[in-house]
Amino acid sequence: MSEVSSPTLISILQQINMGVVLLDDQARVHFWNDFMAVNSGLRPEQALGKALCELFPDLPEPWLRKKLDSVFMLENMAFSSWQQRPHPFNFAGSRPITGQAQKMFQNATFFPLREADGVIRLVCLALTDATDIAMQQLELAELNALLSAEKEEQARLIKRLEETQAQLLQSEKMAAIGQLAAGVAHEINNPVGFVNSNLGSLKGYVDEVFALINSYQALIEQHGNEALKSELAALNKKADLDFLISDLAELIRESQGGLDRVKRIVVDLRDFSHVDSSEWNMADLHQGLDSTLNVIWNEIKYRADIIKEYGDIPAVEAIGAQLNQVFMNLIINASHALGEGGHIWLRTGQVDDEVFVQVQDDGCGIAAENLGRLFEPFFTTKPVGKGTGLGLSLAYSIVNKHHGRLEVSSVVGQGTTFTVWLPKTQPKAAEVASA
Ligand SMILES: Nc1ncnc2c1ncn2[C@@H]1O[C@H](COP(=O)(O)OP(=O)(O)O)[C@@H](O)[C@H]1O
Ligand SMILES: [Mg+2]
Repeated sequence: MSEVSSPTLISILQQINMGVVLLDDQARVHFWNDFMAVNSGLRPEQALGKALCELFPDLPEPWLRKKLDSVFMLENMAFSSWQQRPHPFNFAGSRPITGQAQKMFQNATFFPLREADGVIRLVCLALTDATDIAMQQLELAELNALLSAEKEEQARLIKRLEETQAQLLQSEKMAAIGQLAAGVAHEINNPVGFVNSNLGSLKGYVDEVFALINSYQALIEQHGNEALKSELAALNKKADLDFLISDLAELIRESQGGLDRVKRIVVDLRDFSHVDSSEWNMADLHQGLDSTLNVIWNEIKYRADIIKEYGDIPAVEAIGAQLNQVFMNLIINASHALGEGGHIWLRTGQVDDEVFVQVQDDGCGIAAENLGRLFEPFFTTKPVGKGTGLGLSLAYSIVNKHHGRLEVSSVVGQGTTFTVWLPKTQPKAAEVASA
C-alpha cells in the first residue's frame, strides 16, 4: 500500500465538507479550510494568525475559552452540539432556505493535536453542518406540540360530551318518570276521589246511626221497664258501645288524613309531570316569592327567620305559577333543614342576561354523596309521610323548561344554597331547535 503524502492529506482537509480550523492556546488561527472560507467569506490569508474572536465578533468568547482550556489542560476532546449552542459561527444556512433555517446549525468538536515531542500546541476545531437534522428535529418537536395540544383539545371535547350525555340521560330520565307519574297520578286520582266521597258519606251515615241509637236509648230510658233497661245495659256493655262510638269517629278522621296525604302526593305528581299547564307572560319574581311565602307561611313561621335581599330585577318571561312552585319547594326544603333559630335568605339579582333567585339556609347541609341525586324523582332523606322526594325533581324540570339552570352548593353543618338562573326572555323556538 502506498503511503498517503502530506500534500494529499492537506488537500483532503482543505476540501472536506466540514469546517477544519487549527487553533493555538490564544485561539489564533493556524489552518483554515475551504469550508470555513466559503461560509465565512474570509480567505485564508485574512484569517491566518488572527484570533478567532477577532474574526467573529459574535462568537461567544467564554464558550470558546472553556472548550480550548479543557482540551489543552485535560487533553480530552470537547464537544458542543447544535441543541446546546445552535449557531456558534454566524454562517448563513448552506441548504436551500425553506423559510425557517436562516442560519446554519453546527456541531463543534475540539480535539487536541499531540506533536512528536508529546506537547499539545494546537487544537483542531471540526465544525459540521447539522442543519438538516436540526430542522427535522425542530419540525418534529413542533408537530409533537401540535399533537399534544390536539390531544388536550380532544380530551376536553370528550369530557364535554360526557357531561352532555349525563345531562341528556338525566333529562331523559326526568321525561320518562314524568310520563309515568302523570299516568300514576291519573290512575290514583279516580279511586282516591270516590273513596274520599264515600268516606264523607260514611261519616254522615255513622253520625246518623249513632244519633238513632241515642234516641232508642233515650226512649227506653224514659218508657221501658226495668228488665228491658238492664238487658240493654248488658248488651251495650257486651258490644262496648262507648268505645265503638269514639273509635269509629277516630278511624274515619285518620282515614281522611291519610287520603289527604295521598291527594297531596297526586297533586305533586301531577305538577311534576305536566309542566305545561299555564301561560307564558312577563312574571314579577318578587311578587311570586312574596305570594309563595304567604301560602307556606304557616309551615315555616315557627322555624325560620326569613331575610329578603331583593335586588333590582326586571320581569322575566315565564310561567309564573310554575316558578312559584319552584320557590315553594326550595323554601320548604330549606325550612326542613333548619334547626332551632335558623335563617333563610331570599336573594334576587341579575348578571348579564340572566336573573337569579337564590334560597340559602344555615341548616344541616347536604352530604356530598347525596348532591348528585337531589334532582332524581323520589330521592328523599326524609321519613315516610314527610318527604315525597318530588320537590326538587319538579323544580328541576320547571327550570329546565324555562331554559334556566338550577345550581346547588352545600357545606354539611353550615347550610345550603340553591340558585335558580333564568333568562330574561325565552329563546325563540327556532333557536331552541338549532341549539
Ligand atoms: N335546603 C336543603 N338542605 C338540606 N337538604 C336538602 C335541602 N333541600 C333538599 N335537600 C335534600 O334533598 C332531598 C330531596 O328534596 P326534595 O326533592 O324536595 O324531596 P323531599 O323534600 O320530599 O325529601 C331532601 O330529602 C333532602 O335530603
Ligand atoms: Mg322537598
